[in-house]
Amino acid sequence: MINAPRGTNDIHPPDTSYWQYIENKAHSVFNRYNYKEIRTPVFEYTELFQRGIGEATDIVEKEMYTFEDKGGRSITLRPEGTASVVRSFLENKIYGQPQPTKYYYLGPMFRYERPQAGRYRQFHQIGIEALGSNDPFLDAEVIAAGMNYVQELGLNNLKVLLNSIGCRECRPGYVEELKKYAAENKEKFCSDCKNRLKTNPLRILDCKVEQCSEALKEAPLILEALCDECEEHFRQVKTNLNRLEISYDLDPYLVRGLDYYTNTAFEVKYTGLGAQDTIFGGGRYNGLTEEIGRQSVPAIGFALGVERLLLTLKEQEIELPVETGLDVFIITIGEKARSRGFTLNQELRRAGVKSDMDYLDNSVGSQMKMADRQNAKYSFIIGGNELQKGVVTFRDMKSGEEEEIDIHNIVNKVQTYI
Ligand code: HAM
Repeated sequence: MINAPRGTNDIHPPDTSYWQYIENKAHSVFNRYNYKEIRTPVFEYTELFQRGIGEATDIVEKEMYTFEDKGGRSITLRPEGTASVVRSFLENKIYGQPQPTKYYYLGPMFRYERPQAGRYRQFHQIGIEALGSNDPFLDAEVIAAGMNYVQELGLNNLKVLLNSIGCRECRPGYVEELKKYAAENKEKFCSDCKNRLKTNPLRILDCKVEQCSEALKEAPLILEALCDECEEHFRQVKTNLNRLEISYDLDPYLVRGLDYYTNTAFEVKYTGLGAQDTIFGGGRYNGLTEEIGRQSVPAIGFALGVERLLLTLKEQEIELPVETGLDVFIITIGEKARSRGFTLNQELRRAGVKSDMDYLDNSVGSQMKMADRQNAKYSFIIGGNELQKGVVTFRDMKSGEEEEIDIHNIVNKVQTYI
């Protein structure tokens, strides 16, 4: 017996119906916001993620699925979607077209993390990326699109955490201040943070260890160190969120786990009973295109974890309106009736009716049970008697009412019922 690798999931029916619903909702909501779908490869050259996400991030340091292909090139299964979207935008010179370019995507991502509920090694993201504009209206639009998406799925108790982490001009000065503060208070930080101070000092801000949160209480805040331009941009982002009546909490410790962010950073958490999880997160990444290519293109986006979204919907007992039952189950008695049922089944399907029949030559009683189990709205019963009269016994599975209908009219008839 060979099992699936740790941290992966098989998605079975009926769960696949929920996945389809969630994916269809993404297509419809993001299309309404005029975002177009982009599909990029599941693997890229490793360098893309090293340069894009940053060498000193958890993802690049320890979570990537990296291997050498038969040509000796280092390949990595994508741990996220943004770097690939930017690579594709640059490679295909999309920046030469009228801007902004608004994309959405969905698909599997891979991170070698310790698996637990809501954290997997293969997981799925739905994300959007808007490239080619630094307009603070766009920051608010991106957050609004994500909020609308999850709200249309039925989630309501959501909290937006918002921060600005500045730009190339103002951030280095802040990082110096933070390092100075941390050096003076070194003994108060955990050992990981002591290392982070050397490799990625901003990340001490979102360390989840309590002693560090405590140690940071007196630390300088990035929001107080923004340059005039970043401060004005952030002020406008907040105003635009207010205009859309999207409430948010400022969180000056929110820095996110990828290095490409500049200015706006945000996370959306579910705050309902029993859950405190980040459903989606993102931000601006005005420097990423230059990191990967030669163009300087401002951009913003977010990504949402589909498994986490589904877990939250399940925990909150939010039912998605998916239809898993059949319209018609065909029950036959005898070989001749079975053959007629078989062709009728094809006619029904071609006419847009969701139908099925028995393929194990079961008794009528078992076929009835199958019709029930498959949640069929109607069953068609065809026996010797029906064949002789050229009719089908049409049974409403809910009320149990039956009527005989001409076999030539049955397809039209059932179409008016469904
Ligand atoms: P991220 O915060 O690394 O951002 O991931 C986004 C979301 O993916 C998380 O909030 C979480 O729901 C989900 N996720 C991450 N890792 C796992 C895992 N191991 N198992 C299950 N779910 C997971 C990004 O990936 C950025 N690319 C977002 C972005 C887009 N920023 C700008 N544009």
